[in-house]
Amino acid sequence: VINLSDTQMSQRPGMIELGLGHPDPALLPLDAIHAAATAAFERFGANALNYGFDRGPGPLGDFLTERIATREGRRPEAGQLMVTGGTSHGLDHLLTLMAEPGDTILFEAPSYHLAAHILSDHPVRVVGVPTDADGLDPVAFADRIDRVRASESRPLALYCVPTFNNPTGASWTLARRKAVLEIAHRERVRIIEDDVYRELAYDGAVEPSLWSLSPDPGAVIRFGSFSKSLAPGLRVGWMTADADLVIQITKSGVIDSGGGVNQFAAMCAAAFCMDGGYDLQIERFRTAYRARRDALIEALHAHAPALNVRTPGGGFFVWPELPEHVTEQKLLEAAQLRGVAFLPGGRFYTSTAPKRGHARLCFALYAPDVLREAAHKLGQALRAI
Ligand SMILES: Cc1ncc(COP(=O)(O)O)c(C=O)c1O
Repeated sequence: VINLSDTQMSQRPGMIELGLGHPDPALLPLDAIHAAATAAFERFGANALNYGFDRGPGPLGDFLTERIATREGRRPEAGQLMVTGGTSHGLDHLLTLMAEPGDTILFEAPSYHLAAHILSDHPVRVVGVPTDADGLDPVAFADRIDRVRASESRPLALYCVPTFNNPTGASWTLARRKAVLEIAHRERVRIIEDDVYRELAYDGAVEPSLWSLSPDPGAVIRFGSFSKSLAPGLRVGWMTADADLVIQITKSGVIDSGGGVNQFAAMCAAAFCMDGGYDLQIERFRTAYRARRDALIEALHAHAPALNVRTPGGGFFVWPELPEHVTEQKLLEAAQLRGVAFLPGGRFYTSTAPKRGHARLCFALYAPDVLREAAHKLGQALRAI
């Protein structure tokens, strides 16, 4: 049951909302989280309801440390991992502590539009850095750093989504990851790596995180989240960064006053993970989303061949390039008339978007049949322009 005053999701009657980046409520692990809440009380007693430890519950920290060490070949050392209230909260908190008026954040363009919204709540300038098929453009990255310094601003950090990007679904190549890390290290510019889609890989391999590749442990601040791999309503994620930064955050007023972030939800996540539920749920998401991705891609090839579509290896999104004569706005209007909506690509750039338009299509929310119908309608809309 979706009650509008209970959730963020708003669906117009008769409209297939491919613009929403939400999971399918039918795939959220209601019964398993219900059981995890009971298990949390059994395991942790009243601690589950008390003010929490500043870095988040120890058992959750231990689980995440072990998982990261096995999967990524680098173990966060003591004090290098903390639980957050999700990436949105973690990013906001980080900016609150790090940013000084006039600083600049470099922003992978395109990437997550609502991260740009979070940045805009802080007294920083945001400067886009373009990408190509391999990932962030390293020459442009170095050039933007120079230009920011020349304008007497401090390039505080680069924000990026290198793995299964929102909106493109693409991942940076290994060579590109190393090239960007080298520049960041040389120029002493930190990287904020938003890594929320890492677990949603549909074709096996996933590139190593910038955090795990970085020779300098202080260079990358990496955010992970249970929002995509478990349930966004938990509002629980984690951050791996250097211990000094973690201390700076955990000693901040809001954590000093309120204890760790979202203690009860974090304790439920801990019990869920310790009882083996996490891998099962991830597999459930992967199986469902892989089928949805494939259905959407196939149907776009069949019904909307004018779109230039690449198959993403993971995440939530397909990012077709529109034909030259079709603007994002024209296609959106024509598509909505036929009952399908998407997010125009321009939203994901902080300044000028490329000449050719794009559409961000989310395949996580709907079953394959609905996605096929949406592709069919998009094809009709394109032909009508
Ligand atoms: C790239 C990216 N980062 C962060 C988020 C939000 O993460 P959280 O729910 O952990 O705040 C999203 C959600 O769409 C996202 O796509």
